[in-house]
Amino acid sequence: MKNAESSNASEPNSAPVRGNEEEIFQAPAPAAALQTFTIRYPDRNLEAPIEEGAVLRDAIRAHGVPLYTFINNIRNCNGGGQCGTCFVEVLEGMENLSPRTIAEQRLLKRRPENCRLSCQALIYGNVSIRTQPK
Ligand code: FES
Repeated sequence: MKNAESSNASEPNSAPVRGNEEEIFQAPAPAAALQTFTIRYPDRNLEAPIEEGAVLRDAIRAHGVPLYTFINNIRNCNGGGQCGTCFVEVLEGMENLSPRTIAEQRLLKRRPENCRLSCQALIYGNVSIRTQPK
């Protein structure tokens, strides 16, 4: 087997290539591109794109939509699944979110079935939500 190490002296910034020919030419295929979905906020007349697998809380904040109310803006657990203040109402697309976590089962006992902790839900399809539900 031939070792493919080379350095081109005429190109001062070129790094030498190391490894045998099989190692060089059997690089892993690039990962499939992530899909992009849409989050709709009907009460705000807004919809925005989000990548597959994103955390719902991160998406809401990235879209500039208020998530917390009043003092909870500073008194939340920062996505740790401890405080229960990041809950949202899912209007459509509940099936496009990851299953409820243990934290959600504990903190959302008294909330309707269509409520989710946004810091615990991952997005796998289009959803329609309401933040700061009553
Ligand atoms: S931010 Fe505290 S539970 Fe989601």
